[in-house]
Amino acid sequence: MDRSVKTYHARGGRSQPRAKRAVHELLPRYGVEPSGPPLELSSLFNPSLPVVLELGSGMGDATTTMAAESPEIGIVAVEVHTPGVGRLLRRIERENLTNVAVVHGDGIQFIHERIPERSLSGFRSFFPDPWPKKKHHKRRLIRPALVSLIASRLDAGARLHVATDWLEYAEQMVAVVEAEPSFEVVFVGDTDCPLSRPRTRFEIKGIAKGHTITDIVARKK
Ligand SMILES: C[S@@+](CC[C@H](N)C(=O)[O-])C[C@H]1O[C@@H](n2cnc3c(N)ncnc32)[C@H](O)[C@@H]1O
Repeated sequence: MDRSVKTYHARGGRSQPRAKRAVHELLPRYGVEPSGPPLELSSLFNPSLPVVLELGSGMGDATTTMAAESPEIGIVAVEVHTPGVGRLLRRIERENLTNVAVVHGDGIQFIHERIPERSLSGFRSFFPDPWPKKKHHKRRLIRPALVSLIASRLDAGARLHVATDWLEYAEQMVAVVEAEPSFEVVFVGDTDCPLSRPRTRFEIKGIAKGHTITDIVARKK
């Protein structure tokens, strides 16, 4: 896989002192380094917790809601942009969540280096950047090389759950996941079905623009 192709937007702009302060103060407590040797996932939380990775957690809306609702699951949330990481860290502290670990960095590098094969109980990515222009499609997260990387890190029976508000990307997601031999697609549809996923910030913006939401769930064979 070409890891020089970035799946996220480079963001310049004003520095965010509040977010930077949260990262400085709280990442040592809740953070995991994006780079390094393979992790012993059982050391991150209570060792009995199955671990789900969420890639592109944004402001942490889904992360914190799902963590609070499911204390029996550990969530490793990966986000490259500092404002979202800062906000997620503050929410973890405020809500006393003990089942969330935060990675501030590139999730693809993190999965490659730090996630052992067949170690995850789930993978989530809600509203990954749609990169609508054709020349940018190579930046999409849900592409064959990344889906096969994710498949290699999931345990048998684990669930991949992705969602998008961009119909053409949804079609690509279904095609790419169906083409990965170790996945069986078990659900394609909208969120009002019983998927137990809270609406996210990006999703709400998409709905306001009249976009249709598609959730895709697959099971690792
Ligand atoms: C469109 S936003 C959606 C955020 C959130 N899941 C939501 O639904 O509101 C996609 C997020 O994925 C993050 N992202 C994209 N590629 C990433 C990568 N390789 N590693 C970490 N974060 C990434 C972006 O920084 C961005 O915050």
